[in-house]
Amino acid sequence: MSFRHLIDFGDLSRQEWETLYARAEKIMDAPNEFLDACRGKLQASLFFEPSTRTNFSFQTAMLRLGGTVFGFADPKSSSTAKGETLKDTIKMVSAYSDVIVMRNPREGAALAASLYSEVPVINAGDGGHMHPTQTLADLTTITRLRGGVDGLAVGLCGDLKNGRTVHSLIKALAKFQNIRFYLISPRELAIPDYMRAFMQENKMWFTEVSGMESVIPMLDVLYMTRIQRERFIDPLEYERVKGVYVLNRRKLNRAKPDLLVMHPLPRVDEIAVDVDDDPRAAYFEQARYGMYARMALLMDLANQGHRMPPPVEIGTKPVCHNPNCITQTEGGYLPVLIKKIGGVDCCAYCDKAL
Ligand code: CP
Repeated sequence: MSFRHLIDFGDLSRQEWETLYARAEKIMDAPNEFLDACRGKLQASLFFEPSTRTNFSFQTAMLRLGGTVFGFADPKSSSTAKGETLKDTIKMVSAYSDVIVMRNPREGAALAASLYSEVPVINAGDGGHMHPTQTLADLTTITRLRGGVDGLAVGLCGDLKNGRTVHSLIKALAKFQNIRFYLISPRELAIPDYMRAFMQENKMWFTEVSGMESVIPMLDVLYMTRIQRERFIDPLEYERVKGVYVLNRRKLNRAKPDLLVMHPLPRVDEIAVDVDDDPRAAYFEQARYGMYARMALLMDLANQGHRMPPPVEIGTKPVCHNPNCITQTEGGYLPVLIKKIGGVDCCAYCDKAL
């Protein structure tokens, strides 16, 4: 693998994804052959935000590969609660472990952590920005159940503004051929400008609509997402949009017989329980495949060994105005990093235009 950290799905080439998928399939088919693949390795699980699937599937992935796990699921139980910086936490934890799996509510936190880590950092979700290992789970599900990803019509429905799984999935699908995207959301929850610029730059076919029912018959994959209440600054705004999309059996009647209904989970009310027993409902399998995909990833990253990171310049003051960007809380030392998206200068931590 050419990548050392997994921060963004853009870090992986299509060939690297195919290698990971082939390994995930082998693990699914013969798990006992991999019992020692990470023997003696230690995974640090740093969850600054709640999680069920990502945290437990990473933990069980490492345990099934013969390694061990330590960490926290509540930052109040770590020295973060005493005011320790992310940099210092990562320097310490990377000295104790072989791989770090981190979820953080701040956009760009995983990239920031990778600057100071001796060991590979895996982004397990950074605020409303990216969630690349959910995308490993998603692509594994589509490939296993549909045989491939090229040429699909994919509906992404719900909170496309704050839904990090959607952003990572779009980044990944840019590596495939002839994908058509139906982006289904209320206007206030449409994809962020940096994702729209990314799709335009990569000449991806997409249309933005507010109604789900009119596009359902065209779809091969319907990827439902939760309205992310925790990302709303104004609770009244959440009240206005909550419950806007509910997929139920009646609506599914108009869909293709081989549609895949996916959801990164947790769900609130956007998929009615009467869909769960429909053969097209793939979301529980999707969560299970996520563990195998993470096993395939850990086999590479946890075995890379320690390497001192190159010296990092001490930043001056934050230049990004996104209130959720990691530079807003750790900006006293983080270097200013800028990248171009669609020809526009953007913050390299959170991708927002400067
Ligand atoms: N899909 C996902 O990230 O779920 P959790 O928040 O439970 O980890």
